[in-house]
Amino acid sequence: MKLIVVKDYEAMSKEASNIIKNLLKEKPNATLGLATGSSPIGLYQNLINDYKNGEISFKDVKTFNLDEYCELPKSHKESYYSFMHRNLFSQVDIKEENVHIPNSEGSDLQALCDEYNNMLHNATIDLQLLGIGANGHIGFNEPNTPFGKETWVVELTEKTRQDNKRFFNSIDEVPTHAMTMGIKNIMQAKCILLVANGKNKAEAIKMLASGAVTEACPATVLNLHPNAIVIVDEEAASLIK
Ligand code: GLP
Repeated sequence: MKLIVVKDYEAMSKEASNIIKNLLKEKPNATLGLATGSSPIGLYQNLINDYKNGEISFKDVKTFNLDEYCELPKSHKESYYSFMHRNLFSQVDIKEENVHIPNSEGSDLQALCDEYNNMLHNATIDLQLLGIGANGHIGFNEPNTPFGKETWVVELTEKTRQDNKRFFNSIDEVPTHAMTMGIKNIMQAKCILLVANGKNKAEAIKMLASGAVTEACPATVLNLHPNAIVIVDEEAASLIK
């Protein structure tokens, strides 16, 4: 795993978006695994600017998102479907048919998981972008998720629901479940790029940087990946010795 420490959120976003920009220049039909949360918003903004400046295009790019809340319709402003369209897709030339986001709207969630998983099996993700939860979760794979899991429905921990409460009016509105790529799916990407900023992430980054590999901190699986890049700001790196 390659760890890059930069000053702040802006520098983290720049470093990360440059990696994606260079990939899209080299391979205009790349397949990207994408993430939500506040961590990638800055890098998405940079990619939108790169697109507007004519440096890159998304017209042949395919995307697969990591996860989606259950119990929220796509039309809800906090669904990850809405998030991705608001923060990236509506501002670039990506084709809607090339966008894949787990579909959690339906009664047979297992069938919907299987459907997404099959799509992942038929794709090769060139670069998987990740954020990290304060408890080390990736996608919505909470601590103690077996590394062998593929797309599944997870019950969110109280910690994650509290962390994500800021996007909702009250804790009661935060979904209790989510559909997520499993850790095995994530690990199949050719390259993994994780971004983290802020003190809230320092414990999880300390664990990841220690070289440990433990299901108690899902992100540590990246220590087993041949091409993982972790870009963090000084606050997120503050507990690394
Ligand atoms: C959610 C998402 C994760 C994301 C995490 C951290 O739980 N499912 O993919 O990494 O939040 O979010 P943030 O970047 O807002 O700290």
